Amino acid sequence: MAKKKMHLAQFLVHGPTYHSLAMWRHPETAARNYDWTQPELYQHIAKVCERGKFDMVFFADLNYISDTFRGSLAPALRYATQAPEHDPIPLLSFMAAVTSHIGLGATLSVSHHEPFYAARLWASIDHLTKGRAAWNVVTSLNHNQAANYGEQRQDSETRYERAHEFIQVCQKLWQSWDADAVVMDRENAIFADAGKVRRIEHEGAFFKSRGPLNVTRSPQNGPAILQAGTSPKGIDFAAQYSDAIFAIQPRAEDAANYFNTVKARMASFDRRPQDCKILFGMQPIIGASEAEALDKQALHNSLVPLDGGMTILSAHLDFDLSRLPPDADMTERREPELQRLKTRYRKASGAAMTLAEVAARHGQSVGLPQFVGTPGAVADQMEAFMATAGGDGFMLSPIYCPGAIEEFVDQVVPELQRRGLFRTDYSGRTQRDHLGQD
Ligand SMILES: Cc1cc2nc3c(=O)[nH]c(=O)nc-3n(C[C@H](O)[C@H](O)[C@H](O)COP(=O)(O)O)c2cc1C
Repeated sequence: MAKKKMHLAQFLVHGPTYHSLAMWRHPETAARNYDWTQPELYQHIAKVCERGKFDMVFFADLNYISDTFRGSLAPALRYATQAPEHDPIPLLSFMAAVTSHIGLGATLSVSHHEPFYAARLWASIDHLTKGRAAWNVVTSLNHNQAANYGEQRQDSETRYERAHEFIQVCQKLWQSWDADAVVMDRENAIFADAGKVRRIEHEGAFFKSRGPLNVTRSPQNGPAILQAGTSPKGIDFAAQYSDAIFAIQPRAEDAANYFNTVKARMASFDRRPQDCKILFGMQPIIGASEAEALDKQALHNSLVPLDGGMTILSAHLDFDLSRLPPDADMTERREPELQRLKTRYRKASGAAMTLAEVAARHGQSVGLPQFVGTPGAVADQMEAFMATAGGDGFMLSPIYCPGAIEEFVDQVVPELQRRGLFRTDYSGRTQRDHLGQD
């Protein structure tokens, strides 16, 4: 029987740090021509990932610089804890211009904009990329981000109710033009058939939109939808609309639970398990020998300041961790903001971790497991994780950039292909074609 093939996505941020706080100061990054503000870096990455036949490159995005840790902006600025972050969406066009197949995804929060704006933006990007656009729909939970838009942080229930209506309005707008509405009959002076373009007349609890969209039907009928919510409401949202989900689950057993929960939820929305791919995050650390890879891991992890880890973890939880002692046992904490740490952060044995241990790990990889070893050993770890978790593939996050993505593409991808675990070429051209391939 043919082996189940993996899907691969490259995680990126339009900024100096991704999941690793060491990235911007790592000697490998410093030794290379590294200017994270300029499009050439991202064009290079897109070409490398397309050479590796990845499903997509994908940008996370936040709209704030956190003051959560110690109530000050200073630690976030000092350690570049996913700050600054430039807007990633303009980069998708630059990357599309130098590639022909790879999917191009980015994050846009539904908590601060109008659906008409988002529907128009993503339909335009889907046209410009010839059907390679993917939108990561997030419902930002950070008070700093809300404040930047003059808003209060909303509870999870309200954020997701709003998100459902937001995406449904977008879907109506994307369908407001039939695929054959543009007739371009020059002789009879008919550009579009008005009978094939409709108002949507949406009036809901959160939004009103009259429509139609002033963008023609896009190649994928709107972008592919990505999601990364982990709460029950987030999982529901993903199960209903997403073509792919990104998940952070360091332990394969927990990943299996998550995988089964999402796939079961999909059935209640009449979707088949293969309609939404679940990609687990991981940080590859590759060496010519096991010893070299372990040295690379040790060097990388030593470059993450503990206070930096505390800062980024405080930002992600929206909870000031300077209020707790560093040796606090994180499984004992009762604060609601800290509950989601309990599954993400445990030792391999299942034992509890202290706050300092959790913060160090968060600064290294935001909880992504590190797969360390020779290219063959990294492929072994990926194969073993998939065998236990039942996942559909991985979202990869580099420890330095440029350099680490190239190593994975040149050394691990051929190994996965040799084992029949990854495609050797694209069989379609759109983002949904790649994700839909089984
Ligand atoms: C792998 C991963 C990537 C994420 N990327 C972003 C991001 O780029 N921007 C953002 O605002 N939230 C991001 N999130 C947060 C979620 O998508 C989600 O909006 C948030 O966790 C709130 O939903 P929840 O309560 O269902 O988890 C990410 C989460 C995960 C697990």
